[in-house]
Amino acid sequence: MKKLTFASALLVLSCATAFAADPVRGRQVYEKVGCYQCHGWQGQGANTGPKLAPQPMAADALASFIRNSQETLMPAYSADLVSDRDVADIHAYLVSIKPPPAAKDLPLLMQR
Ligand code: HEC
Repeated sequence: MKKLTFASALLVLSCATAFAADPVRGRQVYEKVGCYQCHGWQGQGANTGPKLAPQPMAADALASFIRNSQETLMPAYSADLVSDRDVADIHAYLVSIKPPPAAKDLPLLMQR
């Protein structure tokens, strides 16, 4: 177990030093390559694609989906179109999207 934790820590560290994921750039890529067209401007989902945020899937799962989504309704994106850095930045963008306020915190609804 300790070995596994150490290995994970190393993996996280090596990824972090390779590039620090940038949510602002991630948003630009998300818009440029057209993710928004099916998943909404904020990853909120639509009848064209499921919700991606808030609380997106793990980065490696997201990467795997982007690369290997053949035979589904979503096009697969090769590394030529969306680089590994792009994928990491898209993930950082999705992570940065805040959940909407709870219904109890909406002033209009609280007046009732
Ligand atoms: C042409 C429409 C379309 C585009 C463009 C598109 N997607 Fe999708 N995406 C879908 C649909 C439809 C699904 C669900 C069906 C499926 O599994 O393919 C999906 C599924 C996903 C999932 C899995 C969600 C889950 O909870 O299972 C992820 C992650 C995802 N898309 C990310 C992206 C990203 C990131 C981009 C841009 C690089 C993108 N998609 C571009 C249509 C699209």
